[in-house]
This record gives sequence, structure tokens and C-alpha cells, in this order.
Amino acid sequence: MRETRHFLTLLDLTPNELAGIIERAHELKRLQRAGEPHPTLAGKVLGMVFEKSSTRTRVSFEAGMAQLGGTALFLSPRDTQLGRGEPIEDTARVLSRMVDGIMIRTFEHEKVERFARHSLVPVINGLTDLVHPCQLLADVQTFTEHRGPIAGATVAWVGDGNNMCHSYINAARQFDFRLRIACPEGYDPDPDILAAAGDRCTLVRDPVVAVEGTDLVVTDTWVSMGQEEEKKRRETAFAPYKVTRALMSHAAPGALFMHCLPAYRGMEVDAELLDAPESVVWEEAENRLHAQKALLEFLLG
Ligand code: CP
Ligand code: NVA
Repeated sequence: MRETRHFLTLLDLTPNELAGIIERAHELKRLQRAGEPHPTLAGKVLGMVFEKSSTRTRVSFEAGMAQLGGTALFLSPRDTQLGRGEPIEDTARVLSRMVDGIMIRTFEHEKVERFARHSLVPVINGLTDLVHPCQLLADVQTFTEHRGPIAGATVAWVGDGNNMCHSYINAARQFDFRLRIACPEGYDPDPDILAAAGDRCTLVRDPVVAVEGTDLVVTDTWVSMGQEEEKKRRETAFAPYKVTRALMSHAAPGALFMHCLPAYRGMEVDAELLDAPESVVWEEAENRLHAQKALLEFLLG
């Protein structure tokens, strides 16, 4: 029997496998745009457990499964026994006997690891406090569409050393690009994740230094889900890290701007930049659909 593969972080797949997914994502986007049916997962069912809010992740997985000829089930802790204390392990054992794959969005990363250990079917991380690997598939697809291969490019991460930042660090390893991170003191990424990336990732304090000559500038909210109580303190700490067109002017000519969304205009990003030509955030959001369809085919097909 084939070993069950999971996608809990970008490191669960090899660089070759990830490259194959990006390539297939381009093809699936073409098929979708051309209105050509592609029911490669006919009859398959994806269970989706959401312990945090979502617009893009939910809709892209749900629409994606439908377009591949399968079905997706939205499971919220409010309506399942998970919310009443049924253990993760038991939920994993039961769900994985009924569905072909399970996507989970939750708080502690350790929860998706425990779930995966007891699941008979592939588990996909739809965001934890630690990482957001699905978003990086879409981001790499988007960069590739606009600028060609991301290998050898230089990327700037400006803002919080959060789950998205961690996935950018892992992506730098797996897709072979350089990453400069600018965070305020006290909001650095996990030192072990950073150290594992070696000298391809550097941490600085000054956003201008991080952005200088880069091909892509990325940011994210200053207040991630679960950090609502820290909002005031965070807004003060991150104020010098707002990404503006003025900051973008230090990047290489033709540099792109990305944001996983939802964005808070006037906070981490200027409204003007979000709607400027160098911003590819809407394409990036759409590519969640295509990239995850490629991932679903890889894991469930
Ligand atoms: N970028 C992202 O994951 O968006 P949602 O929270 O809307 O799913
Ligand atoms: N860092 C953000 C990403 C949202 C998609 C959060 O975790 O809330």
C-alpha cells in the first residue's frame, strides 16, 4: 500500500514534487479559464476542519474539489463533537475512514501533527499559528506567472515573523530563493526555522535594507488570528514597517508586491500600493484555487 503523504509544511514535499505542483497549477488554471472540464478527483471527498475564520482557504478548497469532480465538507467545531471535547486522535481515526483527504485550519501546529499521525488519509495544513504552506504554493505560482522561475530571486518579508514568514523561510529552502526579513525587535521568526535555512535567509531591522534591490516584497497583517488582545501594542511596534510605494521604490525595477490577505489598508500596507500595478494580490488570491487543486490531485489522486 502507498504511504500516506501529508502537507503540514512545505518541507513535507521534495523540491521536485513542489515544482511539479506549480507546473500543474499553471495547467489547471488554463483548463479552468478555457472552461475545459477536468474531473480528476471524481467521487473523492475532502473534509475541511476550520477552527479559525477563512474566506480564501475555504472557498478555494471547496470550489476546487467541485471543479475536480469531488466534494468538500465544511466542518466547524461549533457543530462537530470536536468542539465538545472528542479527542483529535479519535476524530482523525473516524473522519479518515470516511473521506479521502482532510484539510485543517487551527491554532497549535502540534494539533495537525497529532491529527496526521492518526489519519489514514492525507492531511493538509490550511494554516496554523506556525505555518501557512498552501499560501506559498499560490505565491510561487503568482511570481512564476509574472516573472518566471523564483529560483535565484531575492524576496523581502516586511513585518511580523509569523506563520506566513515561517512559510516564506521554508519556501526559500525548497524553491531556492534568497529572503531578507525585516521585523521589529521582539517579533522575529522562530530561530530554529530561520537557522535551518542557512545563509539564504537574513534578518534585519531596517525595512529599507530588506527591500533594497529585491524582486518581490511581501507583508501580512500585524495582528494574526488569535492575537486580537495584542492589537494596540502590535500597531505601535509595527508602525515603521508599513509597506508603501515609497518603500517599494527601493526594490528592483519591476518588483512585485504580495499579501496573503485579508489586508488592513493603512496599517501594514498603504491603500495606494494595494491597488497599484505592482500589486498582484488578487491574482495571488485566485491562485490559491489552482495551486491547491494541483496539491489535491497530488495527494488524493
Ligand atoms: N490568505 C488566507 O488564507 O485567507 P483566508 O484567511 O481568507 O483563508
Ligand atoms: N498571519 C495571518 C494570516 C491570515 C491568512 C493569520 O494567521 O491570521
